[in-house]
Amino acid sequence: MSPKKKIVITIDGKRCEGEEGQTILQIARANGINIPTLCYLEGLTPWGGCRLCVVEVAGNQKLVTSCATPATDGMVITAFSERLTLLRKRILELLFSEGNHICPICPYNKGDCTLQQRGYEHGITGVSYSYLYPARPVDLTGKYFGLDHNRCILCGRCVRTCDEIEGVHALDFGNRGIRNQIVVDLGKTFGESVSCTNCGACVANCPTGALFDKAAAFQAPLVSCQKVVTICPECPLGCGLVVYTRDNRIVNVFGNKESRINGGHLCVKGRYWTWAEPRNRIKQPLVKLNGSFEVVGWEKAFEILRDLYKAVPRERRILLISPRLSNEFGAALREITSEFKVVGVIGARNEGGLVGTAELQPDAISFLEQADAIVIVGAQPVRDNGVLAAKIRVAVRHRGAKLLLFNCRRSDLDQWANISAPLVSVDRAFWKNVAKTISGVKRVVIIYGPEAITPIGLTVFEKLSEVVESSLKRGEWVKSIPLPRSTNILGLASHGYPVVDDLTAFIEGVSPDLVHLVVSDEPHGGVQWLEERGLVDLLKKVGAIIVQGAYESTLTELARVVLPTPIWAERSGTYTSFEGKHLKAERVLPLPSGVKLEEEVLKAIFQKT
Ligand code: SF4
Ligand code: SF4
Ligand code: SF4
Ligand code: FES
Repeated sequence: MSPKKKIVITIDGKRCEGEEGQTILQIARANGINIPTLCYLEGLTPWGGCRLCVVEVAGNQKLVTSCATPATDGMVITAFSERLTLLRKRILELLFSEGNHICPICPYNKGDCTLQQRGYEHGITGVSYSYLYPARPVDLTGKYFGLDHNRCILCGRCVRTCDEIEGVHALDFGNRGIRNQIVVDLGKTFGESVSCTNCGACVANCPTGALFDKAAAFQAPLVSCQKVVTICPECPLGCGLVVYTRDNRIVNVFGNKESRINGGHLCVKGRYWTWAEPRNRIKQPLVKLNGSFEVVGWEKAFEILRDLYKAVPRERRILLISPRLSNEFGAALREITSEFKVVGVIGARNEGGLVGTAELQPDAISFLEQADAIVIVGAQPVRDNGVLAAKIRVAVRHRGAKLLLFNCRRSDLDQWANISAPLVSVDRAFWKNVAKTISGVKRVVIIYGPEAITPIGLTVFEKLSEVVESSLKRGEWVKSIPLPRSTNILGLASHGYPVVDDLTAFIEGVSPDLVHLVVSDEPHGGVQWLEERGLVDLLKKVGAIIVQGAYESTLTELARVVLPTPIWAERSGTYTSFEGKHLKAERVLPLPSGVKLEEEVLKAIFQKT
């Protein structure tokens, strides 16, 4: 690509350098001139709706929006003048008067609202227009966030975010004139919406308190919180997080704009599962006596645990660990593996096969962002890796990339797929159709997940690779990207722990008398593992089950001893991402009293410390 031509413009007498194609606002900001904006947001298509950013261009009688007007070489611009300031004040007054912006009862009061900030910047102390006091609806049906239309300034940032970042386009403008408002799925509530993924990106980008996170409302203004930059614990993508905390609790979680993986975007798991789900936390050791749990101190718990272990020979003990645990935990565990017949990491179905054969792709995200054809085999990005799903939607809907799905559960991706087929033996006509679909593409990624690792899946995968490769010319490429489902399965497997992806068969095979499960902070308390048919009955026959976990669940109900663990935010460590990168997670909150790190507890049982 040839470098862009340099241009020079003058803003309020200052010489400002920029590049052809940049807007007046972009050049102004790059040169330290802060023209006020409201509907503009970096990363979204400029819309020019609020008109707060208007400037005067010499020789042009009309005012222009600086956010949406491309700069041309030699332009002479006035960005601040008495006339422009008055105009901006009037725009703000109109916005304040047509909604119900009663700041003291708004969750975004005191620093989190851009509209309020602009009001202060322009010295607004009252409005010159009559207040309309609208009685628009407030939609509180969404699980994690609400929308108060009375605070909406129709800036359209949510509409563009949903369309251009999450790739869903659940939101739009509905009705006309004074009744114009944001609509979800053309007239549904958030609770009824079928297309909204609950990613919360629209809420994060709303410049007022119209869209607000329920769990964060009235907790603490973000400006008063501590900020920790870390990574998401929910899948192997390793999206960057910015966590806001106050008084040792999480107030809100947003995406880290600096992250190469997610560029500030998150899926519902990163944005809300991490902190906004009601869960019953285990805070002290519990021991089952006469059928019900009793709280005990750690010393008593260790005494009971040592007795339980003493009664069972090593050959009849197994230790199963959650794939959410860190590489440091994996390393620390080596000291005690000899105490068990097997120490395994619990994986999703077929994940062992995937981990064993995967050739990791260190630049997977960048290849995906360049691809003009995306093939997904046996992976479920909409369910498991929402940020990846968003990138796929954007590639297909906005860049015109082709999409081919093999053995993917039904999801919203189907509506845009050129081909969607199960992983079954397919005939020549089918492969001819695949070849026709991808003819002319130059950059292909094949994302494959655990469900591709079956005998028929591998056959289809091989044939697919062959068809794709034969359609590419010199200089064009195809990249295969393995996509495990579990957060740190790659890291823990690299420490030598076998992946147990069929718990029932595994437990039947070993026939243990003692099963120690390090469930850690699995979001559903590990209950998803119990979904395997017959597993609960099998576990009920085991003499002693010990669970180390953060949340109460039906799995902890089966245990003889339950030991509290930290949640993701209370520990630090490194995690191996799907690209094979070692990502550092920072500790966000202190360890609560009564809770001990998993590895400390395990070592203490065997008196290794
Ligand atoms: S809900 Fe928020 S982001 Fe959406 S149009 Fe209204 S003010 Fe703008
Ligand atoms: S939560 Fe995400 S999917 Fe739902 S409306 Fe907002 S941006 Fe769109
Ligand atoms: S895609 Fe994965 S890492 Fe990213 S926010 Fe969602 S769960 Fe977290
Ligand atoms: S910020 Fe430019 S028109 Fe709204």
